[in-house]
Amino acid sequence: MKIAARPNLGADVTDVDLHRLSPTDVARLKEAVYDHKLLVFHGVDLDDADYVAMARKFGVPQRYFQSHYHHPRHPEIFVSNNVPMDGAKVGVAGTGRMWHSDYQFFPEPLPLTFVMPKIVPSGGARGTLFVDMVAALRDLPPHLREAIAGTRCFQDAVYYYKVQPHDVDKGIAELMEEFHREAPGCLHPTIIDHPLRERQAVYVSSGFTLRIDGMPHERSQALLRELFAFLEQPERVHQATWAPGVLMLWDNRQVMHRATGQLHGQPSRSYRIGVYDGTPFYPGLPVTGEKQP
Ligand SMILES: [Fe+2]
Repeated sequence: MKIAARPNLGADVTDVDLHRLSPTDVARLKEAVYDHKLLVFHGVDLDDADYVAMARKFGVPQRYFQSHYHHPRHPEIFVSNNVPMDGAKVGVAGTGRMWHSDYQFFPEPLPLTFVMPKIVPSGGARGTLFVDMVAALRDLPPHLREAIAGTRCFQDAVYYYKVQPHDVDKGIAELMEEFHREAPGCLHPTIIDHPLRERQAVYVSSGFTLRIDGMPHERSQALLRELFAFLEQPERVHQATWAPGVLMLWDNRQVMHRATGQLHGQPSRSYRIGVYDGTPFYPGLPVTGEKQP
């Protein structure tokens, strides 16, 4: 197995057979993803069952709380897809096009995410974009760091709910209420400590972070606007490009991400598996994802 750091963010992993990962290999890869924040595997050839089995070696694969995202035979696979499978709509199209960290709007966020492109759109560099949130905190202007120190932010994904066929004739308020029954949103620290590395990271995103808790509305919105503009500067954004045989794995505690845009109508499919890695997302947070069915 070769692990080679990229110049800006992440590392490339080659010469590895993901069908036959020993416990030593898995331990090494977990250390590598906490070190490098993002791993990009090359030459990967896993079928769906093998993909789930491989992810299970890293922890407990998540079942996303909305079942219409699930792969028909493997509920652990979250399907982003706009191409019919056996004539049927499977998964959800156009997911994750806003800056976010996976499950940031749940009390226990998702530590690790695998994404495997299955159909790579042509006619444009399709990929996943990342921002290093540890580096961002290090570089944050002092007045911003001071303003957010010790605060918590409210995280909510309701504005990204994907309307389903059974939602026809419902009002927006009703849809929001239904979404909030399952995912009411939650508070997380604006700066989190990493449980396994001596590192801190900014933990907000323009997709899910709605306000700074306990702060006057205008002040909170102005600060978040400034923070998002800082985080999303083009020089902070690094792309992992989709290609056949690529598999990505990242640490949601240390990066935020989004999908690149794609040309309208281009076929696209990717399979995500979220993994609870057996460690609190940040110190003090209970580990409950392990207990899901
Ligand atoms: Fe995501």
